[in-house]
Amino acid sequence: MISKCLFPVAGYGTRFLPATKSMPKEMLPVVNKPLVQYGVEEAIDAGMTDISFITGRGKRSIADHFDISYELEHQIKGTGKEDYMTSIRRVLDDGVFSFTRQREMKGLGHAILTGENMIGDNPFGVILSDDLCVNEGGESVMAQMAELYKQFRCSIVAIMEVPEDQVHKYGVIAGTSMKEGLYRVEDMVEKPAQGEAPSNLAIIGRYILTPDIFDILRRTEPGKNGEIQITDALLEQAKNGCVMAYKFEGQRFDCGSVDGFVEATNYCYENIYKKEQG
Ligand code: G1P
Repeated sequence: MISKCLFPVAGYGTRFLPATKSMPKEMLPVVNKPLVQYGVEEAIDAGMTDISFITGRGKRSIADHFDISYELEHQIKGTGKEDYMTSIRRVLDDGVFSFTRQREMKGLGHAILTGENMIGDNPFGVILSDDLCVNEGGESVMAQMAELYKQFRCSIVAIMEVPEDQVHKYGVIAGTSMKEGLYRVEDMVEKPAQGEAPSNLAIIGRYILTPDIFDILRRTEPGKNGEIQITDALLEQAKNGCVMAYKFEGQRFDCGSVDGFVEATNYCYENIYKKEQG
């Protein structure tokens, strides 16, 4: 029912320098696929086949990745090497891709607002591809959220419990428990200082947003780190209507950090790549 998914991919990836000096961090390979392809496959799996990227300068290779490469196709046609193209060919067959540039880095909320004309007046998913989510043998995280949306028809954020000393890295929610793993959001703080977090339930990079978020974002003042924060806009939605927080089933790897990236690589090698190779 939700057909659109937004991918903010304008960030610099400074933690991976020098690898990201002339290459977008989203194109770093986790085993044999660029990080962003995992996120796009997740969106498509959830029925969100209309994929919109918020890009920036130096990110052209993302657009090239989600397009045909005629020369390569010609070169490998009829050889065993075509098998290597199976996953990306499937993505290209199933998805439609749009791109717009965020000219200034003013935060995640600003990036999402930049996507307004690609999204229009529709509910939509947001995937931060730095967070690689897997749920082997079960529904993908975005598919789980899309299912919940059918029931609640309001914005939904994915959450997980994190250790107290990690909460300062995340948007953190407080809410009323509706049932196991599901909360109605009452408070939300972006990257709270130690001791000021309302809970240890951290938002990870999966959102479903209702389109009224755009008007809210337009008037949201810069918050934490001087950036327009989606967390602040969502808090307004929660106060005036409803936002749900959902403890997803599956595993999430923080590929925005070197440690998390290596963990994801090891996991995907053992549990996805090796299986695919038979
Ligand atoms: C963003 C959000 C934050 C969320 C996090 C999840 O922060 O602002 O609320 O917890 O993604 O990865 P970033 O990691 O981009 O600084």
